[in-house]
Amino acid sequence: MSGSRSASLVRPSVEVLNAYVPGEQPQGDGWIKLNTNENWFVAPSVLASVAKAATAYLRRYPDPVFSELRARLEARYGVPASQIICGNGSDEILTLLIRACAGEGDRIAFGEPSYSLYETLAQIQNAAPVGVPMGEAWELPVDGLIAVGAPLTLVTTPHAPSGTPFALADLERVAAGLSGVVAFDEAYVDFGGKSALEFLDRHPNVVVVRTMSKAFGLAGVRLGYAFGSAHVIDSLYKIKDSYNVDLLTQVAGCAALDAWDEYAAVNLETAARRDRVADALRGRFGWHVWPSATNFVLATPLDADAVVIARRLKTERILVRHFGQERLNRSLRISIGSEPEMNRFLDVLEQVVG
Ligand SMILES: Cc1ncc(COP(=O)(O)O)c(C=O)c1O
Repeated sequence: MSGSRSASLVRPSVEVLNAYVPGEQPQGDGWIKLNTNENWFVAPSVLASVAKAATAYLRRYPDPVFSELRARLEARYGVPASQIICGNGSDEILTLLIRACAGEGDRIAFGEPSYSLYETLAQIQNAAPVGVPMGEAWELPVDGLIAVGAPLTLVTTPHAPSGTPFALADLERVAAGLSGVVAFDEAYVDFGGKSALEFLDRHPNVVVVRTMSKAFGLAGVRLGYAFGSAHVIDSLYKIKDSYNVDLLTQVAGCAALDAWDEYAAVNLETAARRDRVADALRGRFGWHVWPSATNFVLATPLDADAVVIARRLKTERILVRHFGQERLNRSLRISIGSEPEMNRFLDVLEQVVG
């Protein structure tokens, strides 16, 4: 089948797209993974529920509108089920928002740097990503975001990859200052941030996006959810895949919400360990560590090369995250694992930098 068609079989914008590069997922056991902010804990009751649900019913399609899951989310967060949608990870919710709100060439604003997938998702939809520089100490560029006036603005809160929490007043200024949709991506809020959920009553343009990948230890099953006005949420239902959340994921999500208190205690413990690790990095190693309200810290070794340290940690089967962007390339983002994992990390680091 030869023909005159030569160049590319895909859209030009896809041809030139730089795909998002997820953190490394190593094969085999024995790794200490501090590179993708997963939880070190998963509730045994969640695993038991999933095992119990793995029956012949898997031949059937799952509930396309995840009724049980939404009923539990409504009970837990006090937002009506009609204002809740779930997705295949919060990444899917972000895609739906972009597809719903931004047409070709429309701007999508976010703090730069923040979750780098935003830019890629915008490019995939042929929208125009606009990164507004974060402040010197990772302050939210409230006026800069408002000035863009985008039909969709994405705010990572607490911020990633710095871990910085924002004042609710600043977040609300963004919501109030824009007529387009403002999505607060609260992936890490359960480790110490303040939620924008209360804005829903006052600002119909607000969407709050959550994930079960971090605070609920379910990165492997892929479950995100979002709260917003019925109008915006209805629009996301119109464009989602019919069965975007599989049966086992819905079961896992319900069981995780039932184990709320257990996760709350674990996440408090993680937050305390984060502060201890940050103190150790500052005190023992003299690193600069940004204050964090998440399950990771962004740390800058002052007299050593971050890339070299990451490489040497990897030879000891410890993964941390390094980003190539100029503002971040002298730092490492370190997830907070279990107590033994963090003790081992600090011991190995001592050998590496010593
Ligand atoms: C800020 C932020 N938002 C969203 C996500 C994606 O989460 P999910 O696993 O639910 O797709 C991540 C994952 O690292 C993240 O850091």
